[in-house]
Amino acid sequence: MLVSSKELLLDAQKGGYAVGAFNTNNLEITHAIFQAAEALDAPILVQLSSGALKYAGIEFLPQIIRTHARLSTIPAAMHLDHGPDFETVMRCLRYGFTSIMRDASKHPFDENVAEIRRVVEAAHAVGVPVEAELGRLVGVEDHVVVSEREAAMTDPDQAAEFIQATGCDFLAVAIGNAHGFYKGEPKLDFDRLQAIRDQVDVPLVLHGASGIPDHQIRTAIELGICKINIDTEIRHAFAETVRRFQAENPEQIDPRKILGPAIEAMQAVVERKIALFSAQA
Ligand code: G3H
Ligand code: ZN
Repeated sequence: MLVSSKELLLDAQKGGYAVGAFNTNNLEITHAIFQAAEALDAPILVQLSSGALKYAGIEFLPQIIRTHARLSTIPAAMHLDHGPDFETVMRCLRYGFTSIMRDASKHPFDENVAEIRRVVEAAHAVGVPVEAELGRLVGVEDHVVVSEREAAMTDPDQAAEFIQATGCDFLAVAIGNAHGFYKGEPKLDFDRLQAIRDQVDVPLVLHGASGIPDHQIRTAIELGICKINIDTEIRHAFAETVRRFQAENPEQIDPRKILGPAIEAMQAVVERKIALFSAQA
């Protein structure tokens, strides 16, 4: 059933667990995400970036998600991930998204505040909650120096002011997390996360969770992370499985045979993450 992310994340906050937010681009990934959630009877967010919408078409992919949600007993929210501008947010509201992220984190604080306030006003008018990001996720490249990385992290005092000024529902934090696979073991700044938690009472969101070791994920959840984003590990499972299948079956041309094992592999990834995120401390 299609639900608002607000109830999912407030329940998670009360229960001390996190809800997985999984990116999709196509039918196969969407099937894998829903099959995993159903197997574990767990709530999920299915999220689409503007790139995914461009690739699959806003007329198509949201329909697949809505159909899955309608036929399913698990609560699922349809979420815009890293919304790049106001127009995309408006289009997604029009297409029935039940959760929105507007990412204006690359802008200076005041511009980020002004833009999120504008989005919150519009989205809340139709009952849709808004995620915003404060601080920036810097790349995992070697040349990013420590001072640069720290300067980009979420400032706990600013976080309180940001929530107060924007009225956003969830806050994505930058605490040493990054998109894509990490080079070496990532080290999340838990003191910073604790300080943010002390200042802010909305559910917190962890982007860039692919490749973060399980014990760090558990600590992040204990410190108030309620939504955890996974994309890269799903893509990796897809690409690796298709590559292996084709190497072993070079004559096969049936897309169903080629993609079937990839759906299973992605489902296994999503199930493992859901089990990790939903284990209460
Ligand atoms: O918004 C999407 C997620 O933050 C993806 O993170 O690259 O670690 O899977 P990931
Ligand atoms: Zn992200």
